[in-house]
Amino acid sequence: MEKVTKIHKAVFPVAGLGTRFLPATKAQPKEMLPVVDKPLIQYAVEEAYEAGVRHMIFVTGRNKRAIEDHFDTAYELESELEATGKMELLELVRSLQPSDMACTFVRQPRSLGLGHAVLCAQPLVGDDPFAVLLADDLMCGAEQGNGVLKQMVEVFLQVQTSLLAVQEVPLEHVKRYGIVAGQPAGNRLTKVERMVEKPSAEEAPSRMGVAGRYILTPGVFEQIRNQPRGAGGEIQLTDGIAGLLGIEGVHAYLYEGKRYDCGSKEGFLQATVEFALKHPEVGPGFQEYLRHLRH
Ligand code: UTP
Repeated sequence: MEKVTKIHKAVFPVAGLGTRFLPATKAQPKEMLPVVDKPLIQYAVEEAYEAGVRHMIFVTGRNKRAIEDHFDTAYELESELEATGKMELLELVRSLQPSDMACTFVRQPRSLGLGHAVLCAQPLVGDDPFAVLLADDLMCGAEQGNGVLKQMVEVFLQVQTSLLAVQEVPLEHVKRYGIVAGQPAGNRLTKVERMVEKPSAEEAPSRMGVAGRYILTPGVFEQIRNQPRGAGGEIQLTDGIAGLLGIEGVHAYLYEGKRYDCGSKEGFLQATVEFALKHPEVGPGFQEYLRHLRH
């Protein structure tokens, strides 16, 4: 593979059923649930844009029209805002799709698993390394530092191998994550030797859990295509990446920042409270409200 100097494309798999959020997700995608005033998918797209990605590829399913509409021009809304002089809101709405950003949509006909969703993007991704962002993992970079994907792109440009975002998780939570283990390979970096999907506390080879940010080499498509169905009868992305281990290097990067698991109600509520407290418009009032609530 020629030395890669930029990550141009990001895949957003948004075709899951979101059963943990029913009934909210019966007719709308969970990625459109807002944390304060912004849908989860927009946070993820902005993170990718900050990292230099300009081609956003969404793998959608049924009930996901709202995502396409969100990143499309809204003529009626825009002319209404213009006519009523609400220029700030007009700017806000227009800023969702910068002129140098392209969005493409591909359907996953059935929810056969995350690995399968990524495979559906192959014709649009082509032969270059690409990012994968799971929008229900809301990632917040370190204070005043870079976003998580931007950190990862910088590391990728050095290592030139597939790269997984990891965080240290409590032993009692390893069963919720893909867990990786390997040899130290630099600052915050591990050369991955083993990957186990959702191990028990006894089986876990480490406490490094994979979060929903990846930079993958196109070799992963071949692995996903040829692997048998994994846990839950689904075509798992972890299995595809594990298949790469014997063929090319894979690194894990301990990102700087915080992750909110917004696919779960607890994580979503934590993100809502913390982002609301930081929000310039509602933060101070909300803090006051919470203070009174406690007494
Ligand atoms: P989850 O494991 O969170 O599954 O998927 P889910 O269906 O979205 O939610 P629950 O567990 O039923 O509540 C992780 C990511 O993979 C995508 C999801 O949209 C989510 O971003 N995904 C999952 C797909 O795109 N297709 C699939 O077949 C499965």
